[in-house]
Amino acid sequence: MRAVELTLERRDGVDPYAVLESGDILTIPKSFFEDTPGDRDFLLQVRPSRGQFHKNVAYRPGEDRVSGLGEMEPQTAARVRSVLRNYSRNVIEFVGELLPRYRAGWHLDYASLRPVEEAGRELPLTKRNDLLHTDAFPTRPTKGGLILRFFTNVHPAKPRVWVTSDPFAIAAERYASDAGLDRFARGSMYHVRQALAAAGILPKGRSRYDEFMLAFHDYLKKNDEYQQNCPKYRFAFSPGTSWMVFTDMVPHSVESGQLALEQTFIVAAQSLANPKQAPIAILEQLAGAPLG
Ligand SMILES: [Fe+2]
Repeated sequence: MRAVELTLERRDGVDPYAVLESGDILTIPKSFFEDTPGDRDFLLQVRPSRGQFHKNVAYRPGEDRVSGLGEMEPQTAARVRSVLRNYSRNVIEFVGELLPRYRAGWHLDYASLRPVEEAGRELPLTKRNDLLHTDAFPTRPTKGGLILRFFTNVHPAKPRVWVTSDPFAIAAERYASDAGLDRFARGSMYHVRQALAAAGILPKGRSRYDEFMLAFHDYLKKNDEYQQNCPKYRFAFSPGTSWMVFTDMVPHSVESGQLALEQTFIVAAQSLANPKQAPIAILEQLAGAPLG
């Protein structure tokens, strides 16, 4: 597992699709954050609301709407929205140009502002960022699509430190069965959750794949043996740097860092240069059954 730098002047020599799809991190030595004087200090003061769904401040590009701010002066909320809108727009343009193959079938998900220092942050176990996990969204099913995330460290001085592990194909081969893949692929767990969705207790429209990925996210965080013994790779992203990774394919955790911006894309599995690398393809192969 490596971080491969994309030099903006000379892009030849780096195949971004190959880097991302093999479970490596693509780094870009550029910020994409329009630093209007005072914005950085302003963002450092922003605190997400303490609601159940809000770990970060979220921005929905399609609706130009911010959530997770809690009680806030309208002027302050408007300023946060403006920063996130500009960042989101810049990143979408850059990534779309770099990865036209993904853009053709992607779905734009949220952007986020992460203003809280990650070291020592107190969150419930399944929401903790300092435990290795693959991403899955409880409320936004991807139905087999991949979660591609673009981050920028906008802190003036501190690096953002990540620890990652071997990609999904390796983790799934070792742990998917123990995490209950068969029950999700063939029956009981999936039907229980469908009944809860029909009763309005769980969100509707989730595939077997979504259910398993959410369970796998929790399983990895709860698994002490995995957390302690799996191979680990440490990356310190300097201020002003950006990086892009399939966060459902690469187990990751955040050790420390404050003030990051992020934009998420849901990429259709068929858009991959090598669709066999998609987590859904890996799981279907392991389960011997369709999960879509
Ligand atoms: Fe994550």
